[in-house]
Amino acid sequence: MKKPVIKAEGLTKIYIRGTEEVYAVNGINLEINDGDFIALMGPSGSGKTTLLDLIGCLDNISSGSLEVFGKDVSKVKENKLVGLRRGHIGFIFQEFLLIPSLTAIENVELSLYFARRPQERKKLLQLFDKVGLGHRLNHLPKEMSGGERQRVAIARALAVSPKFLIADEPTGNLDTRSSQDIFDIFKKINKDEGLTIILATHNPKLGSQADRVIYLKDGRIISKEDASL
Ligand SMILES: Nc1ncnc2c1ncn2[C@@H]1O[C@H](COP(=O)(O)OP(=O)(O)O)[C@@H](O)[C@H]1O
Ligand SMILES: [Mg+2]
Repeated sequence: MKKPVIKAEGLTKIYIRGTEEVYAVNGINLEINDGDFIALMGPSGSGKTTLLDLIGCLDNISSGSLEVFGKDVSKVKENKLVGLRRGHIGFIFQEFLLIPSLTAIENVELSLYFARRPQERKKLLQLFDKVGLGHRLNHLPKEMSGGERQRVAIARALAVSPKFLIADEPTGNLDTRSSQDIFDIFKKINKDEGLTIILATHNPKLGSQADRVIYLKDGRIISKEDASL
């Protein structure tokens, strides 16, 4: 039987904007199992980033319940969330978020230092090979293409041996070709290593390659049929 990694019931996140309450995530029920590869799709403002932030323990939930690795996140205080996610969840963002003055491998090493998970150089080299970047270890971000920068970010996320990966529009800044290349890395990691991946994308061609697509609208999960209307 598959092990649930994430379980949400009535999960809700309300932002206050002036005098208005924004239900960014509105009563979501969701179960994600170990080894799943899930694409979150939906128009801009539908709640994809908010849902990923909640699942990734980057932000506190407003109501409902959320279990991550069997832990009830609503009972974890805001300053303790960092302990829950550090070294357990890998994050990849649209903007790569590399430090410009550090080389590819230094970017990964620094993040391992902060995660208190030093790794042997040999392991890091294997990781760079895995993301197809063995020849770019000592390059600065500005000397790399967008696709290569995102590969560094993937290596950085994988370096801590996370229990699952969260990727928020990881190909949003890339052209069609590099987008598919990056997506292929995610598919391979999921298939070869069984790593759970939850990825938000605007791109239906990519999204449809995931095992399961979850469509969001106004903070709620909707059916595929409703999404295509
Ligand atoms: N920090 C915030 N404060 C107020 N409203 C926010 C905040 N973050 C997101 N929202 C609102 O929540 C809704 C969902 O946003 P978001 O999760 O970023 O959607 P998506 O990633 O699908 O574009 C939007 O209406 C957005 O304006
Ligand atoms: Mg977003």
